Amino acid sequence: MAVLISGRGTNLRALIDSCHSAENPANIVRVISNEPKAPGLLLADEKGITTSTIDHRNFSDRGAFESELIEKLEVAETDLVCLAGFMRLLTPIFVNHWRDRLINVHPSLLPAFKGLHTHRRVLELGARFTGCTVHFVRPDMDDGPIIVQAVTAVHPDDTEETLSERVLLLEHRCYPLALRWIADRKVHVIDERVAIDNTDTDKVWFVNPKTYE
Ligand code: GAR
Repeated sequence: MAVLISGRGTNLRALIDSCHSAENPANIVRVISNEPKAPGLLLADEKGITTSTIDHRNFSDRGAFESELIEKLEVAETDLVCLAGFMRLLTPIFVNHWRDRLINVHPSLLPAFKGLHTHRRVLELGARFTGCTVHFVRPDMDDGPIIVQAVTAVHPDDTEETLSERVLLLEHRCYPLALRWIADRKVHVIDERVAIDNTDTDKVWFVNPKTYE
């Protein structure tokens, strides 16, 4: 798989760590950032993973940027593309090229709170629960068949920071889990819903991010 990032790369770190464990057969062949200064690039370098920067500002349009991206991914013999805080909208051409081989993590319970500033909007609306979603990517923003979600309660004294920290912990559990299931070939998209083979899903729809119970 390849991981596309734009920033700090804590989800990238969770994916790297999970690939280094015995039960996950996935292997990261390349990390690509559209931001030359993304801290996640340094992390990948430290771990000995090949990195590339494709700065979107150097291209006349999204199509040209994405052609370069596709070429880099194909040269690396990528089977699966993981978006991990990759903050560029992708065109339908790119998304359809990688259909069912392109996944994303989003810090809300999709389809609620698509887009940016999710935690601020959760607090403004007074939602009682929030969480994260790992899903296959479709052309509409933050849309596509759901693989894993996890939930946390919103506390009365939560701030954007405390909520995002708690949801991030959930992301770091859910993303490696989704990846492991895909690498084990347990995940199937049927009529735009995800079916997962032989998995006790009761164990993974957790609420409390400290104990995962
Ligand atoms: C994560 O919270 C991820 O869910 C979010 O960006 C953050 C990246 O953090 N992605 C989106 O909002 C995509 N719609 P990270 O760089 O530490 O992994």
